[in-house]
Amino acid sequence: MKRIYLDHNATTPLREEVAEAMSKILFSEFGNPTSTHEEGARARTHVETSRERVAQCLGAKSAEIIFTAGASESNNTVLATLLDPELPRRGLITSTVEHPSILEPARQLEKAGVPVTWIPVDRDGRVSPERVFEAADRGPALVSLIWANNETGVLQPIQEIAAGLEHRGIPLHVDATQTVGKCPVDLQSTPIAYLSCSAHKLNGPKGTGCLVARGHSPVHPLLLGGPQERRRRGGTENVAGIVGFGLACQLAHVELSERIKAYSELRDHLWQSLSERIGGLRRNGTSEHVLPNTLNLQFAGAAGEVMVQALDLEGIAVSMGAACHSGSVSPSHVLTEMGLSSEEARSSLRLSVGQGLTLDDISRAAESIARVARRAQEASAA
Ligand SMILES: Cc1ncc(COP(=O)(O)O)c(C=O)c1O
Repeated sequence: MKRIYLDHNATTPLREEVAEAMSKILFSEFGNPTSTHEEGARARTHVETSRERVAQCLGAKSAEIIFTAGASESNNTVLATLLDPELPRRGLITSTVEHPSILEPARQLEKAGVPVTWIPVDRDGRVSPERVFEAADRGPALVSLIWANNETGVLQPIQEIAAGLEHRGIPLHVDATQTVGKCPVDLQSTPIAYLSCSAHKLNGPKGTGCLVARGHSPVHPLLLGGPQERRRRGGTENVAGIVGFGLACQLAHVELSERIKAYSELRDHLWQSLSERIGGLRRNGTSEHVLPNTLNLQFAGAAGEVMVQALDLEGIAVSMGAACHSGSVSPSHVLTEMGLSSEEARSSLRLSVGQGLTLDDISRAAESIARVARRAQEASAA
């Protein structure tokens, strides 16, 4: 029987046309984009065409796109700029519900003596713009916020925060890894200094992404040793990955409104089918400001880990939150920061839909999830 993959926030299946474009590069365009001969020039053309596609999808200029090995690298690169002793201002403002690729470098910055202000979230999973502005008035070097949370799908009020920070002259970095391809992102109308995103979250390949550094926003390369990416990221480019990323962005841009509609329909059908079958099912985070593809649900009294394993055996892939949390015993920091108890967090699952799913798949998944939840609830009550 067809497996039903409900973990599109962990990663997405590669689109067929993206795989084909990449395989053409791998087989016939092996040149190094830095080489000056014809093979190199052809590879360079592919990289630059892809840069334009990514830029267009995000409303950026192509010179502002720095290709990286994914959003973790992009996030680390931005935070590393704060170690520069010559910066006119010091300090970082970030939230307590960031992805580990922000949390961990932010903790390293703290250890290195850079002041970090941690903004909490409310029960809905959102930061208050006023709290960000209050902290920003103390004059930090950077504010870094996740746009859409990978575990709950909750969207932060980035437009409002970006406008308020522009007014104060404080640069904003946005981790838009889960947002691109699922919500409109237009850097022309949103004053963001840096943006991180990743190809594999929008049906592109793993190990490729970009950092957008707008205007003259400074970038201190993490990888030194080459002239690539205008000296902002050394190392021979992953040409096939970049081509896949460019095409995935182009497709996401063209298909955005139909994707939003299709994902919302699948997600709403899943929520409805589950809430009809499971009494007292709770949704974690706001249902108003949320990605069209994500549900984070609390199955009171059921052990999430047990459910993940049982569903896997029934052919359904779900997770307890971030991919890196799967298999770990500690409850999700995102959920506990929202005020859930450890027990509530441990009984929560993330269900994220995407391409390749039908409403029938969702109905079948809902039946299994309801059955498995009942069993898990009974087992923990026994
Ligand atoms: C919000 C967010 N930021 C960053 C990352 C890291 O992205 P990558 O896998 O490209 O390093 C992820 C991936 O799960 C994510 O969801």
